[in-house]
Amino acid sequence: MIQFSVVSGSNKQAKDKALILLAFEKEKTFLNASAQASKSVLKVLEEEGFSGKEGQAAVAYPHAGFSAPKVIVLGLGEKKDTTPETLRRAGGKLARKAREIRLEEAALEWPRSLNKDMAKALTEGIILGSYQYNRYKTQLKDAPKGLQKFLFKVPSDTQGAVKSALATAQSYCEGAILARDLINGAPSDVTPKVLADKARQIAKGPIRLKLYTRKDLKRMGAGGILGVNAGSAQEPFLIHLHYLPKGAKPKRSVAIVGKGITFDSGGLSLKPAGAMETMKMDMSGAAAVLGVFSQLARLKPSVEVHGIIPTTENMPGGRAYKPGDVLKAMNGKTMEVLNTDAEGRLVLSDALSYAVKQKTSEIVDLATLTGACIVALGPLIAGAMSNDPKFLERVKKATEAEGERIWELPIVKEYKDDIKSTVADIKNIGAPGKAGTIAGALFLQEFVGDTPWVHLDIAGPAYMEREYPALPYLTSGGTGLMVRSLLTFLAHESPQKP
Ligand code: BES
Ligand code: MN
Ligand code: ZN
Repeated sequence: MIQFSVVSGSNKQAKDKALILLAFEKEKTFLNASAQASKSVLKVLEEEGFSGKEGQAAVAYPHAGFSAPKVIVLGLGEKKDTTPETLRRAGGKLARKAREIRLEEAALEWPRSLNKDMAKALTEGIILGSYQYNRYKTQLKDAPKGLQKFLFKVPSDTQGAVKSALATAQSYCEGAILARDLINGAPSDVTPKVLADKARQIAKGPIRLKLYTRKDLKRMGAGGILGVNAGSAQEPFLIHLHYLPKGAKPKRSVAIVGKGITFDSGGLSLKPAGAMETMKMDMSGAAAVLGVFSQLARLKPSVEVHGIIPTTENMPGGRAYKPGDVLKAMNGKTMEVLNTDAEGRLVLSDALSYAVKQKTSEIVDLATLTGACIVALGPLIAGAMSNDPKFLERVKKATEAEGERIWELPIVKEYKDDIKSTVADIKNIGAPGKAGTIAGALFLQEFVGDTPWVHLDIAGPAYMEREYPALPYLTSGGTGLMVRSLLTFLAHESPQKP
């Protein structure tokens, strides 16, 4: 983790460190340097074509007598378009640039013209953009370390606000990085048992854990999880984390349910080799739940939270469930399996039934559920479906604050016909080639009853097969999507009413 500090007053600590300067497009001075200093630096940069456009970063070595030996200038685009996301991206760009020039320490004078949400976002960008997954790398000796120390120099009356923004950013990113690490681990290293062990580590202080094993699942009638697990050599689990804030029992609670398929081969409806290459990421919903819970003891939201994870592999072993099989979910509904690769909805049928049994006031589920969602929205946007527009609006607000984009798809009631089964209550696939993401949501809706519910299909943005220069805080592999958004969401929830 990068070591951040906040100082105000005299500039001793900042001296000799590389200085970060921020520039709006079309303005002749930096936000955080005097007019005179700006002039001298901008002159050096003119030739490199630096104009303050969003995404630009340049290095300059000002003349002797300047307050720093080296400056990195970051473009923010036009002033009127600046949002926290602008700063998050600039932070990511800075992290990348620092690694490129082997810079390990830097200082930034925090400009009064930017708000605390922007300080938080810049910090998030720096931390997330510095992330690298090195568990399996053995040749790191000469690799650049990236930023190690970062100093904010602030006006003394903003010190408190910047410090708290920084602490929030650090916590959110720690949660997101826990999720990234779990997603990026090899599927034979991150098994259902490893997720269960992680939950055990997290269950301290205000967090309790109930861990259901195969035996428990049989007793509870969790036919979805057990069916999907049948072809795997790994034990399945239903993980239930429970956060209860201190003091009077809150009047309402939120359940966060995350799909935890630690490897999705497709089962007997086997995926082609290429489609399997990234299927270690099929537990990204579970990883997000664990990432969120890893920070609750520290952030102490005032609402009660349940974290529910059904976890197993989906494998084609000799005992595997088969197309034509009928499974019975924990709420008693029967499900005809016509494609063993539509396994996410089967394990979620039990997890959602279980959430309803907890009498939770609201449910959000996170699932890498359908390839169709990537066809519809591409790799950067999650699909959102809900039975409660107001609840969805609240979730959407939180995702917007964190720059994690979701887009609503309608739950079209008429398409329910597509999941009707001739032998069971419902079947696990819809009409071929027709709104597969909505069919997935219609299936899940059978298990939430009247509970206000938001379904997030994160198949695309949970995992990046390549990097986007405009999004430098996202590294390839697991993104840790929705950890920050959900932590923001929970921070704004009140224990009495939504
Ligand atoms: N885990 C996949 C969905 C997925 C695909 C996530 C690509 C990320 C990237 C899911 O279990 C799946 O296989 N869904 C099927 C459903 C179909 C059989 C109805 C799909 O999308 O093809
Ligand atoms: Mn599948
Ligand atoms: Zn899957």
